[in-house]
Amino acid sequence: MKKTAITLLAIAASLATASAGDVTKKIMKDLHKPEDAICKKVGKGEATSADLDTLLKGYQDMCADTPSKGPKAVWVEKCQALIAGIKKVQANKDDTGDFKKAVNCKACHDTFKGK
Ligand code: HEC
Repeated sequence: MKKTAITLLAIAASLATASAGDVTKKIMKDLHKPEDAICKKVGKGEATSADLDTLLKGYQDMCADTPSKGPKAVWVEKCQALIAGIKKVQANKDDTGDFKKAVNCKACHDTFKGK
């Protein structure tokens, strides 16, 4: 009985380690990396309301994720800035300034992107 509990704990711990940053990586690949990535459409005023919903959901998932490195509290702030930026664009599609600032690839990668 005790042994089972320990085994389960070990499995849970290894799952937790394997998932750090995985959600974020997937969001990066789907929403940030492609030539025609939807994050790039926002700045050009070409994002549809469905695109904005997808980004909002992605950034909310990212906020709940823990990146491979960097302080979690600052991570949450960065993700909240992305969420707030998207909400502004949803309210007014020309109000893209805050989002563009928040989506700065290098500024975030320098602090949070591991190997
Ligand atoms: C709010 C922070 C943040 C912003 C802004 C951001 N990234 Fe990332 N990105 C990350 C983190 C964190 C990782 C690494 C995930 C991990 O390993 O924990 C990453 C990883 C990546 C990866 C590698 C994915 C993989 O398969 O390993 C690509 C590609 C990428 N980002 C592209 C971009 C581009 C392009 C932009 C700008 C348009 C951007 N990112 C903006 C946080 C950010």
